[in-house]
Amino acid sequence: MAYDNRIIEQVQSLNDIVDVISSYIPLKRTGRSLKACCPFHQEKTPSFIVNPERQVFHCFGCGEGGDVLSFVMKYEQLTFPEALKLLADRAHFELPATSFQRSEKSNSGLLYQIYEVAQAFYHSNFMKLSIAEKARAYWKSRGFGEKEAIQFGIGFAQDDWRKLFEHLSQKGFHEEAMVRSGLIAKPSSQKTPYDLFRNRLMFPIRNAQGRVIAFGGRVLADEMPKYLNSPETDIFKKRREFYGLSVAKGTFIGQGSIRQIIIVEGYLDCLQLQVHGFLNTVATLGTALTEDHVRILKRYADEAILVYDGDRAGEQAAVRSLDVFLEEDMSAKAVGLPDALDPDDFLRSKGAEAFHEQLLEAQDIFDFKLNVLLGRFNKLDSSGLLKITGEFLDTLAKIKNQVLLDRYLKKLAGSLGVEERSLKIELEKLKAKKVTRSSNALEVSTRSAASSPILPYEKLILTCLLQNPSYLEKLLEALPTYEFENEQAREFFEILRRQISERAELFSSTHLMNELKDDRLKVFATELLVSELPEGEALEQVFQDCLAKIEQVLLDKELKEIKHRIQQAERDKDLPLVNQLLQDYQGLLEGSRRRKENLKK
Ligand code: UTP
Ligand code: MN
Repeated sequence: MAYDNRIIEQVQSLNDIVDVISSYIPLKRTGRSLKACCPFHQEKTPSFIVNPERQVFHCFGCGEGGDVLSFVMKYEQLTFPEALKLLADRAHFELPATSFQRSEKSNSGLLYQIYEVAQAFYHSNFMKLSIAEKARAYWKSRGFGEKEAIQFGIGFAQDDWRKLFEHLSQKGFHEEAMVRSGLIAKPSSQKTPYDLFRNRLMFPIRNAQGRVIAFGGRVLADEMPKYLNSPETDIFKKRREFYGLSVAKGTFIGQGSIRQIIIVEGYLDCLQLQVHGFLNTVATLGTALTEDHVRILKRYADEAILVYDGDRAGEQAAVRSLDVFLEEDMSAKAVGLPDALDPDDFLRSKGAEAFHEQLLEAQDIFDFKLNVLLGRFNKLDSSGLLKITGEFLDTLAKIKNQVLLDRYLKKLAGSLGVEERSLKIELEKLKAKKVTRSSNALEVSTRSAASSPILPYEKLILTCLLQNPSYLEKLLEALPTYEFENEQAREFFEILRRQISERAELFSSTHLMNELKDDRLKVFATELLVSELPEGEALEQVFQDCLAKIEQVLLDKELKEIKHRIQQAERDKDLPLVNQLLQDYQGLLEGSRRRKENLKK
């Protein structure tokens, strides 16, 4: 393990999970636990539970779960060492240098370092080199000055094959790591490695925490491809990142009652808007807006305003994003800029004031799509009408909120001049089709699942053990060779048994969680940890009932097996064996009856 467990436990103990989580989302007390709507998936009724006693959280809706560190990692999208650092800082606890430095050598840590060094290198090239004059001139021609170059860390990659490679080598990075970062290319083991970016203006792409995780590089003239982006790595996933978010996210604090975020398509559109005072702007990274994107934005803003290029492609991109917003239940508007301008052109030619007016006229994204389609197809001829309704039914089928659905159905029926009832009927038909399709899929997936689902009493007994380790002895006494049916339960029990026996009094669920390497098992454990059990005698009763249930199940299995063998022996006309088996059968039943009576006494 890369970190000292004692350090990790110390940081955990200084950060109460309830304090930490409630600094992100509001928690409500219910009994011994606290509840909230899960921040990791869309839901209306809370199934996200935090258990203060055991310092874990678990969502019964999406299955996410873990301790305070996993929560921060997931919520802030940090690596383990980063989350550890954040929580250590929060508690004013100084991490010993070694534990953090060592962790920085881990996979993602190294990538962050390479990107940081590369960014400083490109930026200093841009600011200082005389051959960067053409890049500075280009930057200026786009309407920006030195101040903005510094503010956004703009860089320049020289027209040379190995400048970055040499720089990174000097800084002591290994070739393997450079290639993994994607900034250095090496097509085959014989070839010498070379820089990915050459003769380009460099835009550092930062994650929400402000660390450089990728670059976009623009040519200085009209060559192809216009933009080159660094590839996806462990620290960069296009479908989850935005350009400009680290700036934009700081601007929502205390801003009016509805926090809006502006989404554009280009790096330069984003920069131009931010420079003109619209700090709450982000850009996607050459991909369509994904559900992951929207889920992340929802943390910072209540409403999105799409300002895509005023041409057909931009319009189409806005139209396509409607479904993503509906799926994630986030309110969104769209602006269609005039004269096929992009936001950058528009700002530079018409100014911030005019842009602000465009924002005020933004249409609800549903209406935007409707208007676009009404412009493209003729609702008065049947094929046009079918085309438009067809486009919308799929969308409507995704709306979970009945009130919104009613509103949109009314709107659609009104604009198309059709009966709302007919739309509803078509919608029901479509939904029915979808349900059959997805239940088929479910059947296939459960059938092919390698492991049987966890049985309720197995889950309960593991919960008892985890929360009251002293039950282990009783379990082993009653059922010394019991094998859990469910594979995860089996794996988990093995680890639990070892830890309880080895650590005895020192056993703690926090320690156990830290020992679990497998994320699946971690989540499995948190679900058990947040489950509430009765106390005292009632708990004893629950435990005994589980044992009895298991004994019953084992007995039934054995009886079935014997029955099966009796039938076989009858077919073989082996009378002595039949008699023997019948006696065994009686014996088993008798034994179980006696045990039950003993229990009652
Ligand atoms: P656009 O082609 O709309 O360019 O691409 P732009 O932003 O207006 O660029 P300028 O003003 O000519 O500099 C929008 C976005 O699509 C991605 C980039 O993220 C770009 O910002 N893109 C575009 C690429 O990734 N590669 C390309 O070749 C072009
Ligand atoms: Mn442009």
